[in-house]
Formats: sequence, C-alpha cells, structure tokens
Amino acid sequence: MPGLLLGLSALSTATSVVHERRDVTSTNWVKASRVSPSEQHVVRIGLTQTSMEEAHELLMDVSDPSSPNYARFYSADEVAAKFAPSAETVREVQNWLAEGGIAANRVAQTENRGWLVFRASSQEIESLFNTTYHQYHNLATGQKTIACEQYHVSESIQKHIDYVHPGINLGASTATITGIKQKRSRRSLPRQAAPAEGTQGLNVTGCDRAITPDCIRALYKIPIARAPAHPNNSLGIFEQGDVYAQEDLDLFFKTYAKNIPPGTHPIPAMINGAKAPISQESAGPESNLDFELAYPIVYPQTTTLYQTDDVNWAANSSAGLFNTFLDAIDGSYCKYCSNGQCGNDPFLDPIYPDHSPDGYDGQLMCGVFKPTNVISVSYGKQENDLPVNYQRRQCQEYLKLGLQGVSILFASGDAGVAGPFGNSCLGNGTVFSPAFPNSCPYVTNVGATTVLPGHSVTDPEGTPNDYGLFSTYSSGGGFSNIYPIPDYQADAVATYFKDHNPPYPYYEGGDNLGKNGGLYNRLGRGYPDVAANGENIAVYRWGTAGLSAGTSASTPIFAAIINRIIDERLAVGKGPVGFINPVLYKNPSVLNDITNGINPGCGTDGFSTASGWDPVTGLGTPNYPKMLDLWLGLP
Ligand SMILES: *[C@@H]1O[C@H](CO)[C@@H](O)[C@H](O)[C@H]1NC(C)=O
Ligand SMILES: *[C@@H]1O[C@H](CO)[C@@H](O)[C@H](O)[C@H]1NC(C)=O
Ligand SMILES: *[C@@H]1O[C@H](CO)[C@@H](O)[C@H](O)[C@H]1NC(C)=O
Ligand SMILES: *[C@@H]1O[C@H](CO)[C@@H](O)[C@H](O)[C@H]1NC(C)=O
Ligand SMILES: *[C@@H]1O[C@H](CO)[C@@H](O)[C@H](O)[C@H]1NC(C)=O
Repeated sequence: MPGLLLGLSALSTATSVVHERRDVTSTNWVKASRVSPSEQHVVRIGLTQTSMEEAHELLMDVSDPSSPNYARFYSADEVAAKFAPSAETVREVQNWLAEGGIAANRVAQTENRGWLVFRASSQEIESLFNTTYHQYHNLATGQKTIACEQYHVSESIQKHIDYVHPGINLGASTATITGIKQKRSRRSLPRQAAPAEGTQGLNVTGCDRAITPDCIRALYKIPIARAPAHPNNSLGIFEQGDVYAQEDLDLFFKTYAKNIPPGTHPIPAMINGAKAPISQESAGPESNLDFELAYPIVYPQTTTLYQTDDVNWAANSSAGLFNTFLDAIDGSYCKYCSNGQCGNDPFLDPIYPDHSPDGYDGQLMCGVFKPTNVISVSYGKQENDLPVNYQRRQCQEYLKLGLQGVSILFASGDAGVAGPFGNSCLGNGTVFSPAFPNSCPYVTNVGATTVLPGHSVTDPEGTPNDYGLFSTYSSGGGFSNIYPIPDYQADAVATYFKDHNPPYPYYEGGDNLGKNGGLYNRLGRGYPDVAANGENIAVYRWGTAGLSAGTSASTPIFAAIINRIIDERLAVGKGPVGFINPVLYKNPSVLNDITNGINPGCGTDGFSTASGWDPVTGLGTPNYPKMLDLWLGLP
C-alpha cells in the first residue's frame, strides 16, 4: 500500500498534523450528538497574515523618532493591503483544498482577503480535517454551536493557516464576564464652585480646590490656540451611553471660557443609531466633562463626537466595547479576522439591524466616518472582563490606526491597581487587575494627578487618592497579563524595577497569575504612559456648577494638547503624529515627572510614583512648550 501510494502521488502522503486542539472546555458547554453527515456548513479558513512581530516593526518604523520613516504614515488601503495574506498562501491552501475534494470553483476569498470560504457537508470537512464534529449547548447562555476537539491539516500548508471555522472554538462564554465598569467618570460630587470672571490673564486662585480651564493652561503652560485653526484637525472624542447637553456646555463657556461662543458644539459622528445632544436634565457626567475640558484647550479648533450605539446597547455594561466604533472608522475592521474572531463577536457586540423598539434598524456602520488625527476615550473595562482574543484583535486595530497616523488615548482607570467596585481583584482576591484596552501596547494611557491641598499650579502635582463613586479613586496603573513589555518601554520599566522595586511578590507571565503569592506580572506591558490633572475638575451639569474627577478628565486634557501640537505642525507643512509613545519614552524631559503619590487597590498601597516612569503617572504630565518644540523638530 505505501509503495502504491508513493507511486501514485507524492502529495497524498503529505504528513497531516494536528493544527489546533482544545484542551479545556468550560463546564457551561455540554457536548451533544454528532452532526449528521449531510448537514451543510459555511467553512472559513483563516489565512495567516502579517505577523504581529512584523506589524509591530512596521508601526515602530513610522513612530520611532530616530527612524528615517518617522511620521510617514500609510493610507487605510495601504494598511489593509499590508495585512492581506500573500498570493502564495492563497494558492497553496487552494491546492490543498482541491486535493481534499473541494474544487477551486467552490472556494471564494473574502473582500478583506483574509479568508477562504466554501460550503461543504459534515462528511466532506470531517474527511478534509480528519476530525469529527459535535453539537454543543451552553447551559448558562443557551447558545448552540458545532465544534470539534482537534483537527488536522497537511504539514506543508500549516504555516499558511491561522485557524478554521467551524473548528475548536465554542465562542465566548458570557457567563464568565464579570465586569461592570464602563465609564471612567468615577466621581461627580456637585459642590458649590465659585465661577471665575474674566479671561484676561490666568486666574490661578484656588486651583487646589477647583480646576478651571485657566488652572489647566497655567499648569501645563498652554497659550491661546492659533486662529484660524486648520480645517482638518478636529479633536475626536468617543462616547457611549452618556450624552452631553448643549445648555450645560454654554453655561460652562460663559463662566470659564468666555471666548467660546454659546452654541459651540462637536461635529456629530453618530454611530449605529446613537443620538446627541440630550436634554439638560439627562446630561451625562462623562460627555459634559470631556467637552468642557477639551474645548477651552483646542478652541477655535473643532471637536468631533463619535457617539456609539442605539439606546438598547449603549448602556449595556456586560457587553463588549469599542468594536462598533472601530467598524465605523475603519470599514476593513468589520470583517477583519484574527485570533479566532472575525468581525464583531455575536455574543458581545450588538447585531444590527435591530428591529426591536428604539433599536437601530439600519446596517452596521462600516467605514462611514474618517478617524480624526487624535481620539480621546474615557471608557474601559478590565482585562478579565473580555476574552483574550477579543482584546488581541482590537489591539491589532489600534496598531493599524497608528500606522495611519491616528493618536488614540485612553483613560487608565480610576481604581488604582484594582478593578472598580472596591475589591474586584484577581486570583484569590489579592492579585492586581489590569485594565482593558489600556494594556494594549499600541495605545497611550493617561493617568491622573492633582494639585495638592494648599499648593499652587507652580508646585509639583501629586496623585488623587480618596473615595469616589464606585471605589477608592486612584490613578489606574499596573502590568498586563496579556501583552509583554514592548521594546519602546523596556528601559523605563527596567529602571523602575531596579531603582524602586515594589514591595510585593510578583509572577512572571500571565499564565502564572498569582504564582508564589505574586501580585503582578513582572513581564507585562506597564501603564499608564503619561498623566494629567484629574481631581476637583470644575464642571457644569444639570444646570449646576460642580466638581468632577477621574482619569476621564486627564485624557481629554492630554488629547487636546496633542491636537494643538498637530495644529502647529500642520501650519508649517508637517503632518499628524500617530502613535506617540516611542517619541515620549525617548524624550521624557518634555513631561513633568511626578514623584509624589501612590495608586492603592486590592488592599495594598498599590505602586508608588518615582523619578522616571512609574505605573501610577507614567512619564508625567505635559509641558506644552517643550512638547511643541520636540514635535516641531521632528519630520
Ligand atoms: C487522523 O486522526 C487520528 C487521530 O484523531 C490519527 O490517529 C490519524 O493518524 C489521522 N489520520 C491521518 C491520515 O492523518
Ligand atoms: C479666580 O478664581 C477663583 C476660584 O475659581 C474665584 O473665587 C475668583 O473670584 C477668581 N478671581 C478672578 C479675579 O476672576
Ligand atoms: C481638508 O480636507 C479636505 C478633504 O479631504 C481637502 O479637500 C482639503 O484640501 C483639506 N484642507 C487642507 C487645508 O488641507
Ligand atoms: C447586553 O449584553 C449581553 C452580552 O453581550 C447580552 O447578552 C444582553 O442581551 C445585552 N442586553 C441588552 C439589553 O441588549
Ligand atoms: C492568597 O492570598 C494570600 C494573601 O491574602 C497569599 O498569601 C496567598 O499566597 C494567596 N494564595 C494563592 C493560592 O494565590
């Protein structure tokens, strides 16, 4: 027999190897009957694309200030093409399929070129992949799916195949999702703040009690913005389930930023049935805060509001986050496949059209809005709230936005080293909980600082540490259990451990969570990257002056400053700045190093600030003139 086969065709003897195997099955999933041989399936073969290592190098090539290609960004089409599988990959997989009985004329390639798709019976694919398929039922969620425990492909094409569907994946088990944190506006304690009068000169009286636009300009040395502003440099701000009221913005402008005319409002980018603005009595703490902080810094530049999802989904705290936004600003993301996820997760993300009352009954928005040069996001969850592959796929998208020259900034969270709501720590309740998507190495995370009581804007800032709405409020920071330390950060993190070793045991690698009593992953990506004021922020909401706080405030401040710098670059014929971390980690002196403060959580004092980078305030707060000089000196 072997001799005969050899004589017939060398290909038929190609070694077949196990490509994927599921070793652990959640007890929620129950294996039921074998699928019938004649049942038809849509089969997808995910083709290997540019590896993450290559993608990382591509991003560093345009983001590292010492690279000859600094700021030479790619168009969206160029990025999609760069991540498409090679022609050789497609050809070899098609040949293998043909040998396995799936003729080339039955096979289509998806629009984004990432997948080969065909219809086939159970019998055909069980033979092709040398496996057996079963029905599975999820006891907790009622979901049904078909899957196998392992499958084979030919060894010679293994390198071209990412994974196949149906395959070993059972889908996300929503029963394991514990997170409820969504908004980062942790505190909204209306107090009686005295309104400032006049805009001549900066009024820095009482900045330790209420942070006004004047206090922010004085703290970070921000002059009045150039006029007229460049028309194509609007500051993007993401919102979900929380909507601004124009009346509140107008009251705020009238009180604290008289140069901004009443009625000034963001350019609307309404995603999947979202609506804004809203009536004053329904105004949300996050949206009001974001625009009240950003406008005085960027005006007369504009802002763009990316408001996501219809009311049925916008406030759903057990759902996923950001995928519908990413779909709307990058059409290729709608069908982008990686890590076993292709497009939105049907169990975590909304499905449109939604014909239920108040549902958005249009098609999911894909690529209908252009991303702005800078996007500020004060929302997030924890790493352990969402499946790892959901996070990895999204993290790759942030990388791709960086390749296109987009700077994306996230609030680092308001519960220090813990998750929100007090004691949501990992392991046996003592292990620190890193935040999502903050641990992704391709975003810029903004932690919080404060003007210490009795001090002025010229004194070094400290860190907030008090009781907030959802938990003890302190600047979110720590080390990822998913992503290793990126190269641009390696020296900064090593110096922190060498000179300011935290007084806690640690583990090495997310797979060893809690090992030896360790509280954090010594090998993980550290965050935040930078910081800005996030305490006692003067706001107007529901027609009343009050104070707010959170890294929710820090993020639009830092994002607005980056937008100002881009405006100056555009004025001298340069472009946007994209992913800013490599520039900042190489030039920490453009930031004010914060060396006073901690970020408590999980029953500990958390980490300590220190000279140089630290996992409380990152590299520090902005020094606008120094940052501007730096970026005007770069290509
Ligand atoms: C098919 O899979 C089984 C294990 O499931 C393995 O023992 C066998 O060698 C495989 N056959 C081929 C042709 O790869
Ligand atoms: C300056 O600001 C403080 C606190 O916000 C306020 O009490 C005071 O009236 C302001 N002074 C002037 C001259 O605007
Ligand atoms: C702004 O963008 C539009 C549309 O892309 C373009 O036509 C215009 O030339 C740009 N304006 C400037 C000043 O770059
Ligand atoms: C919220 O999200 C969860 C998880 O995706 C989903 O099961 C649930 O149906 C959603 N709730 C609403 C009201 O849409
Ligand atoms: C559980 O927490 C205690 C501290 O309360 C720690 O000493 C111990 O090592 C932890 N055990 C495990 C298995 O993580």
